[in-house]
Amino acid sequence: MNKVALVTGSSRGIGKAIAKILLDNGYIVYISGRNEKQVNNTILEFNNQNAKPLIIDLSLEDNLKNSLSDIFLTESRIDLVVCNIGSGKSKLGLDADLQEYKRMFDINFFSGVMASLHSIEYMKQYGGHIVFIGSIAGCEHIGAPLTYSSAKTALISYSKNLSYEVAKYKVRVNCISPGNVMFDGSTWDNKKKEDDKKVEDYIKNNVPLNSFAIPEDIAKAVLFLEQSDFITGTNIVVDGGQIRKII
Ligand SMILES: NC(=O)c1ccc[n+]([C@@H]2O[C@H](COP(=O)([O-])OP(=O)(O)OC[C@H]3O[C@@H](n4cnc5c(N)ncnc54)[C@H](OP(=O)(O)O)[C@@H]3O)[C@@H](O)[C@H]2O)c1
Repeated sequence: MNKVALVTGSSRGIGKAIAKILLDNGYIVYISGRNEKQVNNTILEFNNQNAKPLIIDLSLEDNLKNSLSDIFLTESRIDLVVCNIGSGKSKLGLDADLQEYKRMFDINFFSGVMASLHSIEYMKQYGGHIVFIGSIAGCEHIGAPLTYSSAKTALISYSKNLSYEVAKYKVRVNCISPGNVMFDGSTWDNKKKEDDKKVEDYIKNNVPLNSFAIPEDIAKAVLFLEQSDFITGTNIVVDGGQIRKII
């Protein structure tokens, strides 16, 4: 029987690569995004009958609840939910006011909390796996916006603590924290177009493996976690060696 996965925010970037690796490994995958054209183009590109469209804003709780209910009614199971929606675009340093913190926590923290809490209701019956996409900005100080860093730290903490609460239902919970990920149209792609030398110097001076990650690097970590039945409550850092903490 095919496993069933929802990857929130999977019409482009990291989520798209995660959806692709799952499809290649026999999963039925719901490809989500708000932009209908982008979701449909991604599904056309995948050319796989197990790729199913979910064109909806998943940061809204009712949409999320209804989508999970529809998936369960159609597939009779939900095995994996990858909570990938997030954005680092915010005001730097002290420029962010409380409203901006709330906006960034909605995108980067509460979207994951909602997706996990509602999917656990289905997974409780027969087990499952939740994977959060964090960031190295949530693991240590790298000069990212405070709004983003603190929301991702909260997400990593939530992931660890949640894993204890749901282990009794055979639900595993893990997190992956990417470093700097490059793909067409990404934040890093735009920064590079603005100032190529500054970005290259940043990578050279901060990333021991001296390159960007590509979305497939993150996707491989998701597949690894899926195939690792005894791993729960962990945070896998995929950053070319950038962060300096030892434990
Ligand atoms: N890129 C990096 O260097 C990097 C590094 C560390 C961590 N991360 C984390 O990795 C995750 C993915 O990043 P990314 O760079 O791949 O993002 P991205 O390029 O902005 O892609 C986001 C995806 O999510 C969809 N999306 C956004 N908001 C949505 C919503 N409310 N409902 C449904 N779909 C939504 C987008 O489609 P629509 O816009 O059409 O909805 C798109 O498919 C984020 O959590 C980010 O914080 C990224």
